[in-house]
Order: sequence, then structure tokens, then C-alpha cells
Amino acid sequence: MKERKQLPFAASADYINRYFSGVQHDIAIVLGSGLGGFTAHLSDKKILKTVDVTLYPQSTVAGHSGEIVSARLADKRVLVFSGRVHYYESASTVNSAVTAIVSNQLGIENMVLTNAAGILNESFDPGDLMLIRDQINLTFRNVVVDLGSSPEKSQRIYSEQLVSKVYAAAEKAGVNLKAGVYLGLTGPSYETAAEVKAYRILGGDAVGMSTVQEAIFAQSVGMQVVGISCLTNYCTGITSQKLSHEEVTEIGAKVDEKFSRLLSGLIELL
Ligand code: HPA
Repeated sequence: MKERKQLPFAASADYINRYFSGVQHDIAIVLGSGLGGFTAHLSDKKILKTVDVTLYPQSTVAGHSGEIVSARLADKRVLVFSGRVHYYESASTVNSAVTAIVSNQLGIENMVLTNAAGILNESFDPGDLMLIRDQINLTFRNVVVDLGSSPEKSQRIYSEQLVSKVYAAAEKAGVNLKAGVYLGLTGPSYETAAEVKAYRILGGDAVGMSTVQEAIFAQSVGMQVVGISCLTNYCTGITSQKLSHEEVTEIGAKVDEKFSRLLSGLIELL
């Protein structure tokens, strides 16, 4: 990101840094809806509630605990954001990228963005994990522009280096990993059948309401970023089943074991 202005959330980053005694983390991980169970696999944990962090935007969504956890996994220090802020909660790309903005100010170089997503590609099943190979940003907004800077010209957002490591971790952990394109929307409504048809034609494999701004910001400041979607449901029109947020969090709990094996394997390979 060129002509860098003063970044927002400097006070939040400073509070987090002091709370965790200035420990340097190897990787930041954002846990999407229903995926908070990953923190049970970490040791040497110190937990901070986001409500206690100076000027930190709050999430109001069920399944997002609003915690920042500093912990150890193997020989690495990890900073986990359990829960995130969605664009639709405050109509702010900057708030929705707070995890990446704060991680950058804490000097963290690697970032894993996870989310719950709906299935557009019929060859995938609920409970599958999908490595995000690329994204379609249908929020029509860009956090880097909203921060007053010019976006990078390079549009390779997801790190090939981390992508290779996720594949290696999946193979080692025996996880059948799918791969595809994440299509990001503002939400908060789920898609209509006609929208789902359009998004499939556009080339999306999974759809969700997060991740794209965090990824754009992280890449713009030179962080290595990778994304993993937990596919929770077929989108409207692909099946006649009605969608609910409960279904999304329930599937998250069911995939916890394989999701944690994959993430742990990735961290070990850093
Ligand atoms: N659509 C959008 N976002 C989602 C979905 C969905 O079907 N499932 C989980 N997040």
C-alpha cells in the first residue's frame, strides 16, 4: 500500500500488544462462524475480550465469541481472533478488516482467514473444507481505497507460498481439501435463487459475507495471506432446504476435528 497514512486502530493494537506483554506472534488466525473450537487445541493461552480493547469494533453475530487469544502451538506463537466484524454490522470496510489492520501493526507476517460459506459448486458437500484459491469481491468496495491509499496493481491476493503449505498440511493430516473461488458479498441476507444462479455463472464456488477486505488489506501491506472456507450449506435454489444461521454454526462444530488438524499442520510447517 503506497503513501501510507496513519492506520486506524493504532490504540487497539497498542492495547493488545501490552496485554500480551509484547510477545511476537508468527501467525494471525481469524476463526469464522462456528469454528471457535480450534482454540481448545492451543496451549499456554492468554485470552483478551475484544470489549476490553481500546476502540476495537464489536461483533454482534452469534457464534462469534469476540475474543483474541495469544497461544502456543508446536514451536509457534499464534494470535487467534475468535470472531470478526462483518461489513453489514457497521457498513465499514475498515471495521471489517480490523483483524488484518491490527495484525499488521503488531508486525505479524502470516495470516490465515477462515470462514463459514455457502456452496455454489454442486460438486462440494456441507462439511467440506475449501482452500480459497482466489476471490471475487462483490462488495464493490476496497478497504485500501477507504483508508485513503492507492490499491496495489498486483491482484494476486492469496500467497502461493502459504497455499503450498496448506496442501502439504492437508496431505499429512489426511484431510480431503477442496479448492475454489470465494465470492464475497456484503450480506446480511442470504442469496436469492436468482442471485445464486448468477454467482455460479460468474465463477464462484462458495459464497460468504466476510474475508475479502481482510485479504485485500493483508496483501496490500505485504503479509502472506491464505483462506480456508468451511462449507456449511448448499445455497438457495441448489436444494429446497431453508437456510439458517444455526445450521452454519452446527456444521462448524462437526468439522472442528479435521479443521483443527489442518490448521495445526499448517502452523507446524511455517
Ligand atoms: N450465503 C452467504 N453466506 C454464508 C452462507 C450462505 O449460504 N453460509 C454461510 N455463510
